[in-house]
Amino acid sequence: MSEERQLRIVLRNAGLIDPDSIDEYIAHDGYSALERVISEMSPDDVIEEIKKSELRGRGGAGFPTGKKWEFTAKADSDQKYIICNADEGEPGTFKDRGIMEGDPHSVLEGMMIAGYATGTNKGYIYIRGEYALSIKRLQKAIDDAREYGFLGEHILGSGFAFDVEIRRGAGSYICGEETALMESIEGKRGEPRKKPPYPPTCGLWGKPTVINNVETLANIAPIVINGADWFKGIGVEGSRGTKVFNLMGDINWKGVVEIPFGTPLSDIVMNMGKGIRGGRKLKAVVLGGVSGSLITSEELDTPVDFNSLARIEAGPGSGSIVVLDETRCIVDIARDIAYFFRHESCGKCTPCRVGTEEMYRIIDRISKGEGEERDINTLESLGKSMMLTSFCGLGQTAPNVILQSLRKFRDEWLTHIREKKCPVNV
Ligand SMILES: Cc1cc2nc3c(=O)[nH]c(=O)nc-3n(C[C@H](O)[C@H](O)[C@H](O)COP(=O)(O)O)c2cc1C
Repeated sequence: MSEERQLRIVLRNAGLIDPDSIDEYIAHDGYSALERVISEMSPDDVIEEIKKSELRGRGGAGFPTGKKWEFTAKADSDQKYIICNADEGEPGTFKDRGIMEGDPHSVLEGMMIAGYATGTNKGYIYIRGEYALSIKRLQKAIDDAREYGFLGEHILGSGFAFDVEIRRGAGSYICGEETALMESIEGKRGEPRKKPPYPPTCGLWGKPTVINNVETLANIAPIVINGADWFKGIGVEGSRGTKVFNLMGDINWKGVVEIPFGTPLSDIVMNMGKGIRGGRKLKAVVLGGVSGSLITSEELDTPVDFNSLARIEAGPGSGSIVVLDETRCIVDIARDIAYFFRHESCGKCTPCRVGTEEMYRIIDRISKGEGEERDINTLESLGKSMMLTSFCGLGQTAPNVILQSLRKFRDEWLTHIREKKCPVNV
């Protein structure tokens, strides 16, 4: 992995320890945070500490983790659940895979602490079925943790009981959306539920459920060990700690990096990613997945944190950075993205089911030199109405990159329509 300018909290052990060895994890402070919460802290203390750290969810929406835990802790119920969202279905995203393959116990320990803090004894890891190595390593980690007394009844001799099971997804993008994911665990067709009620009070089988992303959970043990003040000292206002990204596309170095929030995107692409492949020029960056945003070279110096990115209508999203060089055709990229969403729309609501189909049809036509100028307006109004009226985040974000490309690379779209040719010969 590219080392320079990284700050590794989540990836503290990745590449350093044998991920299949619980002893090596323990030798690197592993399970000492669990031990501390059980022996020294009340569940309320743990929630206060996570709230104070200002940790925000790393699954895309950035919801404050401590607050989410508090809702579930306060909910009165005979049964509660912790779910680790390891679906990672966003194209071009593999940062959670890097975490799970590199240090599976760090994710488990985060789940256990979430269980302790919220009064929950059951956890599920919902993981995409294609992640064979992550599944194997997580299963071994679960088995070993159970054998060592970190899972099961009377954990570390206390009254706390917690256990974890893996549920494998069958390759549907919508099943990463938290409520569709719960439907899937329940054995139903993966479709989103109406919100509210929200999962922290009414989730899996109608019970209070904390659902957190893999990276969010891997942040928990370091916060418990080093304290909320330490964590708050990293990053910037509104975005504390670090962020894990995977780098791919037309760059010289590809892989997973962890940076303090506030690092300029240009630093990640040009220094950690070692610049554009073949000495070519950068055209754009697809940031945060195909439902994320399209960043131009003029915007590349933007600091990577929630607030700075929001100013350019972007966000860390799924944690993926896909670099496009000058030889890439923007219409071709938009067509691929539209194809993906058309295929993955679950069909529950009309704006998304029909909208994704229609977007693909129009863009496909433009890419074949059969577009008309009014198509641009149609795409824009269609995209905007999908964002406003779709039932869930899938349809609400599917038009993001496509609409930004229409705004930021309009000339290229117009050349395809007016001159019936692609300026970069794709
Ligand atoms: C279509 C769609 C797909 C999603 N896929 C994922 C995913 O693969 N992993 C993930 O952590 N969150 C995903 N999310 C976000 C989850 O719904 C949820 O916000 C997240 O798991 C909450 O965890 P956090 O608070 O730790 O970020 C997706 C959302 C949508 C709308």
